[in-house]
Amino acid sequence: MASLLWNLAGRLALISLCFLLTIASIWAETDASPAADLPQFNSNRLMKPENYREWIWLSSGLGMTYSQEGPTSDPPQFDNVFVNPSAYRAFQKTGRWPDQTVLVLEVRNSAGKQSINKGGRFQQSLAALEVHVKDARRFPGAWAFYSFSSGGTSAAPIPAGASCYSCHAQSGAVDTTFVQFYPTLAQIARQKGTFKTSPEP
Ligand code: HEC
Repeated sequence: MASLLWNLAGRLALISLCFLLTIASIWAETDASPAADLPQFNSNRLMKPENYREWIWLSSGLGMTYSQEGPTSDPPQFDNVFVNPSAYRAFQKTGRWPDQTVLVLEVRNSAGKQSINKGGRFQQSLAALEVHVKDARRFPGAWAFYSFSSGGTSAAPIPAGASCYSCHAQSGAVDTTFVQFYPTLAQIARQKGTFKTSPEP
């Protein structure tokens, strides 16, 4: 009789342990994943999102220029655009950027004939790193731009009068962002009706 009771107690203890471990792992997952990719601030400075290369890649442009007279980078530079995964998932559902969206523009120099490459261009060293963040409680226009100097780990917001704000607001297809150049998102925005039909050229 005593051994039967001990056996029962042992089983109950084992079942409780499994239950607690399951709850703990679910809690750890839900707690860790959403917070991990949100913008981090130190007073008004944005901390550089160190692991943005593990985020969602939206597109790469090569030698894009926005005015006839403006300086053209020669040789042309690549720009690679990344977004934090939680904002990407929300955009897929709604065609809109949620609060706490972080978009990264990584500019890289390019090279041509090197190694076995005889034509076309490939990416090389980092030339600039710019970030666009949505946080309606923090910024009057909901969005702010940042530019990280080489080796810089935090940056102050670029003042609201800068050309970044006007060009993005006038010509971006979705909410001050250039979704017209991010093919998979452009399709979603058109389906959800959030794509501005005629952003100014
Ligand atoms: C004359 C227009 C123009 C100006 C001025 C401009 N941008 Fe952009 N920006 C663009 C275009 C076009 C893209 C899309 C690039 C691509 O497709 O690779 C872009 C993309 C970006 C992105 C990627 C996310 C997004 O919003 O679509 C960031 C970040 C960014 N720009 C930062 C800046 C910053 C910082 C400044 C000011 C220092 C600036 N931009 C000024 C036209 C502009």
